[in-house]
Amino acid sequence: MADRFRLVLVGAGAMGRGLLQDAFAVPEIRPVGVCEPLEANCQAVADQWPDLSLFETWDQAVESIGPPEIAVIATPNFNHAELALQAVASGVRAIFLEKPMAVHLADARWIVEACESAGVLLVVNHQRRLLPELIKMREVIASGVLGSIELIRSCGAGDFLSDGTHAVDSVRHLLGDVQAEWVFGQVFRAPNPESVVGEDGVWTGPGCRYGHPVEEAALAVAGFPDGVRAEFHWGSLFPAGRWYQDYEVIGSRGRLHRFPDGREGPRLEIDLGGGWEPLPFDETPGPSALARLARSLETGENHPMNGRVGLADMELVTAVYESAARRVRVEMPPSAGRFPLLDLLS
Ligand SMILES: NC(=O)c1ccc[n+]([C@@H]2O[C@H](COP(=O)([O-])OP(=O)(O)OC[C@H]3O[C@@H](n4cnc5c(N)ncnc54)[C@H](O)[C@@H]3O)[C@@H](O)[C@H]2O)c1
Repeated sequence: MADRFRLVLVGAGAMGRGLLQDAFAVPEIRPVGVCEPLEANCQAVADQWPDLSLFETWDQAVESIGPPEIAVIATPNFNHAELALQAVASGVRAIFLEKPMAVHLADARWIVEACESAGVLLVVNHQRRLLPELIKMREVIASGVLGSIELIRSCGAGDFLSDGTHAVDSVRHLLGDVQAEWVFGQVFRAPNPESVVGEDGVWTGPGCRYGHPVEEAALAVAGFPDGVRAEFHWGSLFPAGRWYQDYEVIGSRGRLHRFPDGREGPRLEIDLGGGWEPLPFDETPGPSALARLARSLETGENHPMNGRVGLADMELVTAVYESAARRVRVEMPPSAGRFPLLDLLS
C-alpha cells in the first residue's frame, strides 16, 4: 500500500475521540497526532492510544511533525472556522469538519471558499445520511411507492444549530439533496442574564453550548420545490416518544417512519394504506465517512458530505433563525451572515 494519509485530530472531546477510533479502522489513514489543551482529554487519548503525539495547538503540531494530509476538527462550534482556515494555510489536503460548520453563516462560506481556492477537500460530518436506514428511506422515496411526497416531519431534542442540522441534512438527503425555496421559523429563548460573552466573543454559562447562545425550542417549516414541505419540531417542542431524530415521510399513497435513536426493535415502518408495518432492510453499515474521505483523496470521487452539501444545510439552519429574528418568511438563501439568534437576545 502507498504511504497512508497522515491524520491529526484537533479537539479530543467525546466526539473527537470517537472519530479517532473510526480513523484507526481505515487502512488508508494513519493517525499521527492530537491537538488538545485540556489535560483530562489528553490523558484519555494517551490511555487509549499511547503512541500518538500530543500537542496543545495546531501550530505546535505542524511545527513538530509537519502538516498532515488530513485535519479532523472536532472542537466546539465557535472556533471551527478559525481552525479550518489555519489547516488550509498549513497545506492539508482534506479537512473533516464537525457539524455545524460554524456558528455564523459568513464563516461557513469563508471555509468553503478557502478550501475550494486551495484545492482542499472539505467534508462536514453529517454522518447520519450514511446510516443504512436513511439510505433505505431515500430509495423507498425515489421508487415512487409512497406517491408524491407532501411532507417530511422531523423531531428532536437539543438546539437547532447543533442538533437540528442533522435533521436538515437528513431531510435534504431524503429529497435528493435539493435546497429549500423558503423557510419560516420561530425560536424561543427566555432571557438568561447568567449567559456571559467574553472579549473573544465566546459565550459561556446557562443557555449556551459550544461557545454560543442556544434556544430552548425551535419550530420551522421549509418549502421545497414541487410543493414539498418539511417541518422541524425542535428542543422542548419534540412530541412524546419522538425524542431524537425521528422522521416521518408523508406521501400521496403512503407513509414511512424512522423511529428515534435508541428505540429497541425495527428502525423503519411503512404504511401503504393497510396500517403501519415494520420495513426490513440491510442493516450492514457501508464505509465510514472517513473511509470515504480517503477514497475521495485517492480517486477524486465525490464525497456525499462535501463542503457544498454542508453549506446548503447551514443556509437552511440559519434561515430558521433569521426568519424568527426578522419575523418574515425567508426566501433562500438567507441574508444573515451573523448568527441571527444573537439579534434575539435581550
Ligand atoms: N456529528 C455528530 O453526530 C456530533 C455529535 C456530537 C458533537 N458533534 C460536534 O463535535 C464538536 C465537538 O463536540 P464535543 O461534544 O466532543 O465537544 P467537547 O467540548 O466535549 O470537546 C471539544 C474539545 O475541543 C478542545 N478544544 C477547544 N478548542 C481547541 C483548540 N483551539 N485546539 C484544540 N482543541 C481544542 C476542548 O478542549 C475539548 O476537549 C462540536 O462541534 C459538536 O457540535 C457532532
